[in-house]
Amino acid sequence: MKAIEIQNPGRDYRLVLTKRPQPQPGPEEVLIAVEGAGLNNADLLQARGLYPPPAGTPDIPGMEVSGTIVQMGTAVSGWRVGDKVCALLSGGGYAEFAAADAGCLLPVPQDVEMVEASGLPEAVFTAWTNIVDSGRLHPGETLLIHGGTSGIGSIAIQIFAARGHRIFATAGSDAKCDACRAFGAARAINYKNEDFVAVVKQETGGAGIDVILDMVGGSYIQRNIEAASIWGRIVNIAYQDGARAEVNFAPVLIKRLTLAATTLRARSADQKRAIRAALMREVWPLVGARIRPVVERVFPLAEAQEAHEFMAKKGHIGKILLRCA
Ligand SMILES: NC(=O)c1ccc[n+]([C@@H]2O[C@H](COP(=O)([O-])OP(=O)(O)OC[C@H]3O[C@@H](n4cnc5c(N)ncnc54)[C@H](OP(=O)(O)O)[C@@H]3O)[C@@H](O)[C@H]2O)c1
Repeated sequence: MKAIEIQNPGRDYRLVLTKRPQPQPGPEEVLIAVEGAGLNNADLLQARGLYPPPAGTPDIPGMEVSGTIVQMGTAVSGWRVGDKVCALLSGGGYAEFAAADAGCLLPVPQDVEMVEASGLPEAVFTAWTNIVDSGRLHPGETLLIHGGTSGIGSIAIQIFAARGHRIFATAGSDAKCDACRAFGAARAINYKNEDFVAVVKQETGGAGIDVILDMVGGSYIQRNIEAASIWGRIVNIAYQDGARAEVNFAPVLIKRLTLAATTLRARSADQKRAIRAALMREVWPLVGARIRPVVERVFPLAEAQEAHEFMAKKGHIGKILLRCA
């Protein structure tokens, strides 16, 4: 099969189209004929040699795909050859075929085009487990999402706005702020010319935010603590601006805050299946109608290198995808 190989991992890596043997699905896996693969920052980090795939995972990059089931593992039930699915993977997505755990499959929703669906799994799994499981977002609570136009932010805003939450989102330009409002944010904050702490304090009558999803870190670590409400929860999914900071923890104590941070890729199959079950129940009925994939651009599989370079420029809104068929 055609697949993308990382050559010369490091700063000057190259993504090269090559031939690899088609994967064989394990007993609890299905084989997918891949039509679309989503790009994630983790793929860029892997190519730079900074984020090795977990043991047993193919070295082909790609953590989410969409396509058609063409082969079933012996222990898989509930799916059939021919089903149209999107899947969260630990790796191996930039290819014509990929093996996926049956517990990480979601049906391609009605009214969502097949390639577009490849941009959903990583964003929905990450948004749900960090905001609901770690962040314990309750009905009626406020939510602040940093990186509101990121692949994850663009879906997270839609999911939690549809569930009736008042959402604040940060982004680095007025155009990105417009997009955040279109996704359902009640207030978008251009962090280049507004202070998000001051804005959320003012807009919540001084109460602050119940749950904050952060992918920035650095100076935001202290500022999130300032922006949080009493009993607030702050969940980090990345520290793009740095994982080291000098922090005054007194307000954490005084406001009874919870600070959390998680990764998804290395979690057990059972944990991913539990997230998938919640998504099927709570989110999937809304996908296609009220929640739509946000796609900035689709590149052919052979242009994976150009796709990575485009993503590294950080101008995108939503997801960048590869067309693999
Ligand atoms: N922990 C997990 O399980 C998990 C899972 C998936 C992804 N992630 C991480 O979550 C983050 C978002 O993923 P994604 O795929 O949605 O990424 P993405 O689409 O590339 O979005 C990242 C966004 O972060 C914003 N940003 C804010 N401050 C930044 C800074 N200092 N440096 C760089 N970007 C900054 C940028 O938007 P502005 O232009 O508005 O600043 C950028 O669009 C990534 O860092 C990824 O590695 C974590």
